[in-house]
Amino acid sequence: MAQNYAAKYLLKAAASAPRDFINAAVATMRPIHPTVLIFHCTFVCDARCEMCSNWTRGNRKEDMSLEDVERVFDSKLWKNVEVAFVSGGEPTTRNDLVDVCRVMLDKLPRLRKFGINTTGLTPKRGIPMLTKIAELCHERGVIFSTRVSIDGVGDMHDQVRKVQRGFDKAQETIVAMQALQKRVPFNFGISTTIFSMNLSDADNILAWARREGLDIVFNMVRFTDPMLGNAELADTCKPVGEEEERMRQFFMDRVRMDPLLDGQNYIYMHYADMISNGYHRQAPCPFQTQGIMLNPNGDLFFCENSDIVGNVLQEDAEAVYFRQTSQDHRESIKTDKCPTCLSPCQMNVSAVKQVLPYVKFLYRASKEKRKGPRAAAMVSAESK
Ligand SMILES: C[S@@+](CC[C@H](N)C(=O)[O-])C[C@H]1O[C@@H](n2cnc3c(N)ncnc32)[C@H](O)[C@@H]1O
Ligand code: SF4
Ligand code: SF4
Repeated sequence: MAQNYAAKYLLKAAASAPRDFINAAVATMRPIHPTVLIFHCTFVCDARCEMCSNWTRGNRKEDMSLEDVERVFDSKLWKNVEVAFVSGGEPTTRNDLVDVCRVMLDKLPRLRKFGINTTGLTPKRGIPMLTKIAELCHERGVIFSTRVSIDGVGDMHDQVRKVQRGFDKAQETIVAMQALQKRVPFNFGISTTIFSMNLSDADNILAWARREGLDIVFNMVRFTDPMLGNAELADTCKPVGEEEERMRQFFMDRVRMDPLLDGQNYIYMHYADMISNGYHRQAPCPFQTQGIMLNPNGDLFFCENSDIVGNVLQEDAEAVYFRQTSQDHRESIKTDKCPTCLSPCQMNVSAVKQVLPYVKFLYRASKEKRKGPRAAAMVSAESK
């Protein structure tokens, strides 16, 4: 079933390629309606992670209500959204999460991929919600992807997330999702954020994920107030000196070891490049011209490094997005923020949309592969 699903996924991506190409070309000349959306549906959280401060700003009273969400998604702004992610905070802390997702699925006419990241830390609530959302997506022919966040094996995870028995609870959700995949097709895996505290556990997490047959993506720690509320954590969470070099090596090993066409490799090489060149971004980002980010209280941003450009509870989202002052801000992001931005946000979406940088990546990645993995041997030995 998983293979059929992957084939269907690739077919859908190929079918949208001509439109992607036209969108990218038009976006260089005039603003276009966004195609990629991140919606933080709440900042309320069931963890207190060391590398993210969203849990400190959760406030249920400020979250848009279901009625607000229905009204907001009536705007024409969203008419071309193809890829939507619901994140937070912890999405499953919202009692009405399934209804919020249903509204989005019903009101985004072009949607083809819908994703949710979850802690998996409240399995009794989360599993039925994720099950229902996977079913809703399947009924509508929308690709559903969900990942449980795992930042260490056993105690390390509990320490990063500051949740007792957190690893066991997350594992309960993981096992339930693996079982659900036998009945409802969707993409499932885990997501790991590497930072100073758990860098030493990175190979261990990888080996564990392989043993469990889990698809894993690694995020390199970054700092952004609009998305993670954590600008003040850079001093404590960012690996420096030798640690930073170890992190670079870890990401480069992924490029050398993992299959060339694995979508994540493009992002891993971007992380390694950023470290080695003093944080000068070379990678494309769909948020420069086609992305949008919505926070729980209705504040609208172009991306995780944008200022607030307006509030969709007070004004129509399309009007906020297209007005001249907003578009001027987007231009300033390109000159002021993009050159040093670490964000991987949907870079693999832009990879297929921007052919030349991707071809360059494939050339460099295949050269790296020929050098042969050094840490690779260690990791595969550990995972046996
Ligand atoms: C902000 S969380 C929201 C969803 C959910 N609460 C969770 O933890 O999965 C989304 C993703 O961001 C990752 N993340 C957290 N802090 C980060 C940081 N400082 N840099 C990069 N990614 C981070 C998390 O590990 C998670 O995979
Ligand atoms: S990473 Fe997720 S679980 Fe951890 S504090 Fe941030 S939003 Fe909450
Ligand atoms: S600042 Fe970062 S996330 Fe925002 S558009 Fe630029 S590269 Fe993308």
